[in-house]
Amino acid sequence: MKQTLTILGLESSCDDTAAAVVRHVMDQPAEILSSIVVGQTDLHASFGGVVPEIAARAHAEKVDHCVELALQKAALTLQDIDAIAVTAGPGLIGGVLSGVMCAKGLSAGSGLPLVGVNHLAGHALTPRLTNGLIFPYLLLLISGGHCQFLIANGVDDFKRLGGTIDDAPGEAFDKSAKLLGLPQPGGPSVEAEAVSGNPKRFALPRPLADRPNCDMSFSGLKTALLRSRDALVAEHGGLRQSDRADLCASFQQAVSDVLAVKTRRAIDLYLEQKPSQSIFAVAGGVAANQQIRATLETVCNSKNVSFIAPPLSLCTDNAAMIAWAGLELFRLGHVDDFSLSARPRWPLDRKSPAMLGSGKKGAKA
Ligand code: KG4
Ligand code: ZN
Repeated sequence: MKQTLTILGLESSCDDTAAAVVRHVMDQPAEILSSIVVGQTDLHASFGGVVPEIAARAHAEKVDHCVELALQKAALTLQDIDAIAVTAGPGLIGGVLSGVMCAKGLSAGSGLPLVGVNHLAGHALTPRLTNGLIFPYLLLLISGGHCQFLIANGVDDFKRLGGTIDDAPGEAFDKSAKLLGLPQPGGPSVEAEAVSGNPKRFALPRPLADRPNCDMSFSGLKTALLRSRDALVAEHGGLRQSDRADLCASFQQAVSDVLAVKTRRAIDLYLEQKPSQSIFAVAGGVAANQQIRATLETVCNSKNVSFIAPPLSLCTDNAAMIAWAGLELFRLGHVDDFSLSARPRWPLDRKSPAMLGSGKKGAKA
C-alpha cells in the first residue's frame, strides 16, 4: 500500500451536499486539502423539516459541481486521486443514491477504486482525522438522526453501549425550534436564544436519567416544551421574547443534563474494560453546541478521562469525514465493486439489537 493516499469523498445522506479531498502520509497527521459543503436549508425552510424528495433532487443537481469545486480547491485532478469514497448509508435513500451513483460514474470513468462508507463511521472516525486518536476510545455520536455511545475498537469494529430509543437530540432541537417559531436547523437557533435565557425557569423532564443503562429518550422533552409553550400562550396570548429564551435555555439544560448522566455511565462501562487509554470523544452536529461540549468536558475531567471534540465544521455533516473513513478502509484493503448499494439502515455495531424509532434520516441504527 502507498505511503501517501489522497482520497476524494462524497456525502449526500441528509440535507448537505458535500465533497472533499483528504491526504494522509503514513505516520503523519492527515490533511484536509478541500472541504465543500452546500446546504439546502433554504429549500426546506417553508416545510419545517427536510423533505426527502426535494433533498434527493438537490443532491443530484449539485453533487457533480461539489466534486469539481473540491478538486479545484485542492488544485488536483482525478489523476491525483487514489480512491473515491462515498456515503452509502444510513440516510435518506434518495440522497444516498445520488452520491453513490455519482461516485460510481466517477469510478467507472476514471478507473479509480470505489469505497462505500457508513456515514456514522465518518462521524465516529473524525477524532482520528482531527486528533490522530488511536483505538480504543469511547465515542458519543449526537446528531440530527443518531444518538449512541460506542466504543471504537477499530476502523470497522464498534461496540454500542446504548442510544436513543426515540428521537435523536438534534431532532429534538429541530422540533423544539419549530414549536417556538425559530429557524432551522434548530440546534444553532435554540443555542443562540438560550444565551439570554434562564435554564431553571421550566422544570422539563430528564427522561430515563434514573435507568441504570446508557439508553436515552428525547421525544418527551419536546412534548413537555410544547405544554409549557401552550400554557404561556394561554396566559399571555403569545410568547414573549424572555419566555422563548427561558424555554430554550431550560430545554438545552435538560439535554445537557441527560447527556452528562449517561456519559458518566458510559465512561464507567468503558473503563471497566480496562482500555489501554482513557479517551472520550464527541462527534455529530449536536457536538457543535457549546454548553453540551462544556458539560461533557466537565464530566470527563471528573473521571480523569481526556476529552476530544472536533472543530465545529467537522461536527456537522461534511465530506472530509467520509474521505477520511474511506481512506482508513482503503488502507485496510477494503474496496467495493459496482454492486455497492445505498442503504437506508446500516448499524455500526452489527451485533447489538436494532434500536427503536426513526430519525430525520430514516430508521435508527
Ligand atoms: O451531524 P449532522 O450535521 O447531520 C446528521 O447526521 O444528522 O447534525 C445535524 C443536527 C441538526 O439536528 C442540528 O440542529 C444539530 O445537529 N445541531 C446542533 C447545533 N448545530 C447543529 N444542535 C445543538 N446545538 C448546535 N449548535
Ligand atoms: Zn451526520
